[in-house]
Amino acid sequence: MEVIVARSTESAVKLASTIMADAIRAKPNLVLGLASGRTMEAVYVELARMHRQEYLDFSLVRTFNLDEYIGLGPDHRNSYRYYMNYNLFNNVNIDKRNTHLPNGLAEDTELESAMYDQAIKEAGGIDIQLLGIGRDGHIGFNEPLSSLASRTRAKCLTPETIEQNSPLFEHPEDMPRRAFTMGVGTILEARNILMLVTGSSKADVLAQAVEGPVTSMITASALQLHPHVVVVADEKAAAKLQGRAYYDWVFQNEPKWAAYRNI
Ligand code: GLP
Repeated sequence: MEVIVARSTESAVKLASTIMADAIRAKPNLVLGLASGRTMEAVYVELARMHRQEYLDFSLVRTFNLDEYIGLGPDHRNSYRYYMNYNLFNNVNIDKRNTHLPNGLAEDTELESAMYDQAIKEAGGIDIQLLGIGRDGHIGFNEPLSSLASRTRAKCLTPETIEQNSPLFEHPEDMPRRAFTMGVGTILEARNILMLVTGSSKADVLAQAVEGPVTSMITASALQLHPHVVVVADEKAAAKLQGRAYYDWVFQNEPKWAAYRNI
């Protein structure tokens, strides 16, 4: 795992977006794993800007999102399909047929989950998976005690996650109690993982995920088992990291980060 602490939240967003943009330029038909949530809104604004101003081309890019609320259709303002169309897909030249999220209205949740994992496999696997982190340490909606070998499935959300996300709903009590999510095992199969974490509310959980023991109580800690993880954090989110001086040292000395140091 490599941890990059950016000088500001804007710089953290720009760094993560630039890593993704460079990957798209290197492989135009990249398979991108995408995340939703407040943290990612700024990333999608930046990617759309790069599309408009720097000719970042999404025409061959394929995407798979981490999760979707069960019971919400694509036209519901709080569905992640709506979020993705609104924040990214409508603003770049991506072919929507190449964009995938679980179908929140699927009646057979097991079948929908199995089909989702199969579709990822048929696309050749995910090249880069973008991740945020929930306050309870979840990646996707892999709530505490999710098996670290889990596959895409329906998952019951914790009261903490409902508290975190229900204010985004017009009627907070309408937030679904369950969601489809890629499993921890599904996420760990991505070839590269890019986690973006910003804000002081994530400082404790980020330290637990990065420097604490691997435990299903903090599913993000499973990323320690993956050989290619980059965590980009802002100062506030990085505040509780013990190994900060070493992470900065690596960022300053690893040749592959040279082009990113001025961001
Ligand atoms: C949400 C999503 C996650 C996201 C996380 C953080 O519930 N399921 O994929 O990374 O929680 O969200 P935010 O960026 O709003 O803090």
